[in-house]
Amino acid sequence: MAETAAQAAGILREMGLGGPHACAIVTGTGLGRVAELLEAPIALSFGEIPGFPRPGVTGHGGRLHRGRIAGHSVLVMEGRAHAYERGEAAAMRLPLTVLRTLGAERLLLTNASGSLMPEAGPGSLVLLADHINLSGMNPLIGEDDDARFVPMNAAYDPDLRARLARAAAARGLTLREGVYAWFSGPSFETPAEVRMAGRLGADLVGMSTVPEVILARFLGLPVAAVSVVTNWAAGIAGGAPHHAETKAAARAAADDLAGLIRAFVADLPETAP
Ligand code: HPA
Repeated sequence: MAETAAQAAGILREMGLGGPHACAIVTGTGLGRVAELLEAPIALSFGEIPGFPRPGVTGHGGRLHRGRIAGHSVLVMEGRAHAYERGEAAAMRLPLTVLRTLGAERLLLTNASGSLMPEAGPGSLVLLADHINLSGMNPLIGEDDDARFVPMNAAYDPDLRARLARAAAARGLTLREGVYAWFSGPSFETPAEVRMAGRLGADLVGMSTVPEVILARFLGLPVAAVSVVTNWAAGIAGGAPHHAETKAAARAAADDLAGLIRAFVADLPETAP
């Protein structure tokens, strides 16, 4: 893995994707148009980058972009690998390692989710405050030194969360906060599972992000995550999610998300020289 990551980073540096970068952004289902924010973009398809995910889920672009937003250098990973594809919770380890190696100073994850919050229906933006891992998996299983015991208090970086809240307020966008429960998928949850998650303290359900947050903490990358609610979770307000609905709703909310990200990145501190 380390060798492939170094090889990938070498290729990407040669192609002009070297940093430092104020932020790396991972875009979720139907949210790839965040990449359209970039000025002077360069993009490579995942297929050209050793160890990057092979295109799987429809709605995922499968490209790595580098460009500028309001003068700040940014990497956008359009599409992600999911644990449900091959049962590997560490599916994003190599890409996140490469983003870090290329000089990304922080990580912003985006995803699509199902909502249990009455005040946050489809189309809402929700900032993750914390998570509950209901998958039984962990991307650090198999690590063999003490670095594996990653603390998960304040895993969602308080400074980045405050910045995102300020960016939303500046754009006049409503950004709620919630707790995200990770189900492995790829089947959607049953209504009983959603009720259980709600009783445990979850506000949102989804199939990604949590392993990436654990990996980001492991790699020493400050991380935050914004969810686009694409549907009511199964059984909530009659919710019966399916993938086509998820993709369409994500596209409809993509403009709000893009506005939020633009304002957030514009206000980040300058990268280290
Ligand atoms: N459940 C799990 N993942 C999701 C959902 C959902 O309801 N919506 C979008 N991604």
